[in-house]
Amino acid sequence: VTVYVPRDSAARSVGADAVAETVRTLAAEQGRPVELVRNGSRGMLWLEPLIEVGTPDGRVGYGPVAPSDVEGLLEAGFLDGADHPLRLGVVDELPWLSHQSRLTFARIGITDPLSPEDYERHGGLTGLRRALDLLPADVVATVTESGLRGRGGAGFPAGVKWKTVLDCADELKFVCCNADEGDSGTFADRMVMEGDPFMLIEGMTIAAHAVGAREGYFYIRSEYPDAVASMRAAIEIARANNWLGDRILGSDLTFDLHVRVGAGAYICGEETSMLESLESKRGLVRAKPPIPAIQGLFGKPTVVNNVLTLATVPVILANGAKAYQELGVERSRGTQVFQLGGNIARGGIVETAFGITLRELIDEYGGGTLSGRPVRTVQVGGPLGAYLPTSMLDLPMDYEAFAAAGAMLGHGGVVVFDDTVDMASQARFAMEFCAAESCGKCTPCRIGSVRGVEVIDRIVADEQREENLALLEDLCDLMTDGSLCAMGGLTPMPVRSAIEHFPDDFLAREGTA
Ligand code: NAI
Ligand code: SF4
Repeated sequence: VTVYVPRDSAARSVGADAVAETVRTLAAEQGRPVELVRNGSRGMLWLEPLIEVGTPDGRVGYGPVAPSDVEGLLEAGFLDGADHPLRLGVVDELPWLSHQSRLTFARIGITDPLSPEDYERHGGLTGLRRALDLLPADVVATVTESGLRGRGGAGFPAGVKWKTVLDCADELKFVCCNADEGDSGTFADRMVMEGDPFMLIEGMTIAAHAVGAREGYFYIRSEYPDAVASMRAAIEIARANNWLGDRILGSDLTFDLHVRVGAGAYICGEETSMLESLESKRGLVRAKPPIPAIQGLFGKPTVVNNVLTLATVPVILANGAKAYQELGVERSRGTQVFQLGGNIARGGIVETAFGITLRELIDEYGGGTLSGRPVRTVQVGGPLGAYLPTSMLDLPMDYEAFAAAGAMLGHGGVVVFDDTVDMASQARFAMEFCAAESCGKCTPCRIGSVRGVEVIDRIVADEQREENLALLEDLCDLMTDGSLCAMGGLTPMPVRSAIEHFPDDFLAREGTA
């Protein structure tokens, strides 16, 4: 019997290792030794540790399982898929999963992330093999036709970026994967690296072939030790299988990958400061132009893409641009990996075509708040994203629709707050976060954010409220217009949205002075 216990750090953080060990020991003691597979997570995080057992009907899930549940599960006959209060049914058939359109996350939670055989058995390398049969320009054209846009947040067309790098005549070019995932409420990059690292290696290799690069780097945040370990292990295995190195899969392509670990600065997720950090310098933002596609790592043409962008490339090459392009709405094509978090009953990964509404995500997938209290606001797109009121929950998840509403989709993080949230505190937090994480290069961001905290404190204390609100508006204009990068430039977004949609939290509150 095969039993699957996730190795994803979200599952490990709630005891998956102890559950795996208990299953192994107790099952062996009872004369039913099991084959234990440490798979990735299915992304139903409220059910972790979610263990599965292979049965003739499919993989049956049980969760959330504590080590103390294992004895009872064995007695009930869970190794044969028998009934038990924790039994969830055949996992693939659970509506929460079966209603999604999983392309990037197709294998995650199903395979053993470090098994090359499992990877190929589940469609791995099909995209790379197709790409190697194509000329670089045709690979770039396929990515452009698919409509894939940068999933890091800015949504720049990936194919256009690749073409810029391909068109540079330099001998030396690089591919860099931005795995700094600093946005609050986001965890999809981590789950890709822990749950399907070969897919990311495959995406990087396709990018290398497409633009003519021979070397690539992963820049992974130090807060993700499990992702660092799984990427390093996967690179070793890929090299041993000739998926990396010279003459990859018998082709003329030579490409190798390296992992670099960040040191905890949010700003190193900004592409130019990430490049500085990769060059062993302090993570200071560079002025653009020149864009990294033309002068990037060590001054050479460089593809910098987010984990989700690169991880989606193999399936696009495997299924063709059209199949991907057919999903989505308007100029937001394909699927987005939404990450539901904050005060939510069922947090986790929902991969679905663009165009789903926030309300569907929160009510149907998320099951409302965890506290059971009414939703008051949702912050989409990380700490620099807007706070949306419930009257805007029917907004379709689409880059342009969000931009038109003064918000942004960002990296797909959706953080829910109930009616106990104080929006003045949230606005203050945005300024405080900017003050802590600013790289310090420009004044509106470095000093403006500190002044922002002070002004909000005065508003809360009821000191000349109207005047200070006007001052805060002024400061937001200055930060938006005068900052070099998105850190200072977007910090006003959460502040302004809080004031606009929740004015009473600023104006009608009792003063604390
Ligand atoms: P940007 O709009 O300046 O650039 C987007 C990308 O397109 C960059 O890689 C840029 O180099 C490239 N690009 C622009 N013009 C190009 C051209 N003509 N040819 C080729 N490439 C070109 O945006 P930026 O500053 O890189 O990112 C801002 C976004 O980052 C925000 O909207 C926010 O959503 C997101 N963000 C994501 C975080 C995360 O943890 N994933 C954290 C903070 C912000
Ligand atoms: Fe640095 Fe802030 Fe200026 Fe960005 S806006 S370059 S983080 S000081």
